[in-house]
Amino acid sequence: MSSALTDLFPLPIVQAPMAGGVSVPQLAAAVSEAGGLGFLAAGYKTADGMYQEIKQLRGLTGRPFGVNLFMPQPEYAESGAVEVYAHQLAGEAAWYETELGDPDSGRDDGYEAKLAVLLDNPVAAASFHFGVPSPEVLDSLRRAGTLTLVTATTAEEALAVERAGADAVIAQGVEAGGHQGTHRDVQENDGSGIGLLSLIAQIRETVGIPVVAAGGIMRGSQIAAVLAAGASAAQLGTAFLATPESGATELHKQALTNPLFTRTELTRAFSGRPARGLVNRFMREHGPYAPAAYPEVHHLTSPLRKAAARAGDAQGMALWAGQGHRMARELPAGQLVEILAEELAAASTALSTKEGEER
Ligand SMILES: Cc1cc2nc3c(=O)[nH]c(=O)nc-3n(C[C@H](O)[C@H](O)[C@H](O)COP(=O)(O)O)c2cc1C
Repeated sequence: MSSALTDLFPLPIVQAPMAGGVSVPQLAAAVSEAGGLGFLAAGYKTADGMYQEIKQLRGLTGRPFGVNLFMPQPEYAESGAVEVYAHQLAGEAAWYETELGDPDSGRDDGYEAKLAVLLDNPVAAASFHFGVPSPEVLDSLRRAGTLTLVTATTAEEALAVERAGADAVIAQGVEAGGHQGTHRDVQENDGSGIGLLSLIAQIRETVGIPVVAAGGIMRGSQIAAVLAAGASAAQLGTAFLATPESGATELHKQALTNPLFTRTELTRAFSGRPARGLVNRFMREHGPYAPAAYPEVHHLTSPLRKAAARAGDAQGMALWAGQGHRMARELPAGQLVEILAEELAAASTALSTKEGEER
């Protein structure tokens, strides 16, 4: 399907923005140079930090790329829940010989300042996670020449994305690594979520804007499958996390294919919002009672996660990963894009040959 979005980059492959220092300019440049769409993640960064990365990326490639922002979060933690969780994490702080972080370090992630930077220095695409920007914001970005995309995890959320005026919706299946981009998180969200193929179909029957499919995609054959289901492109996170250009720690990269880590789960243990990661000790011990309190819990556990990484202890880190993690390939990002494109072409040929035979 041709659209303003797919006309931007030759291959239907988007490298997912990955906050926490993973989708660095080198990764985004390699993907965009290879014909996909590279993305920077502005989440947890200052507006100036984001600007510096944009400048750096522009020095590495003249190709289009995107920047991803987190939406500011309303306050909906039950009062006292964060204090109780802090009490429960006291033993972790003692173990890692650090202090817990200040849960009240800020909940808007510098949204307004980052928007101002993007309006002054327009990029090809901007995507949003954890909610929908106002129609005015989406319109001002469009007038600046930026295509807008917003994550949705249900057809209802996709409808809100279309009504606000975004150019495309990112259908994020429950298989996806990292945070679910659910628009409003409440304790009752049990994290069951919708599988990607079902979600694409539901969203396609609800909205008319192009759909980018995300969640568990590790091979070109899966890209062919989501395109056949009606998506215009596929967004891959975990597959790119394993590349040498990604800024993920070596511990995180190695854990993806380490037989010690057999499964992933959605957890609130590290950030207070459901996010998919490899099941480790921290998740097992604290996941069951972690409160719906994002970003307070993110700030609270930040020093613990950093101390665990310094100590080389993968059991105390947030090892974000999608359900396809074991299929990760440690290839340079540009080469990975080429192989995905070859696999996609082979799967598409197989599909059309089969169709021809059946006629
Ligand atoms: C380490 C990691 C960090 C992520 N950070 C972000 C982010 O900052 N913004 C965002 O929109 N999505 C983020 N995601 C989710 C991705 O956009 C995407 O939905 C997901 O990676 C797709 O599933 P996959 O990992 O199985 O490919 C992150 C995913 C991972 C694995």
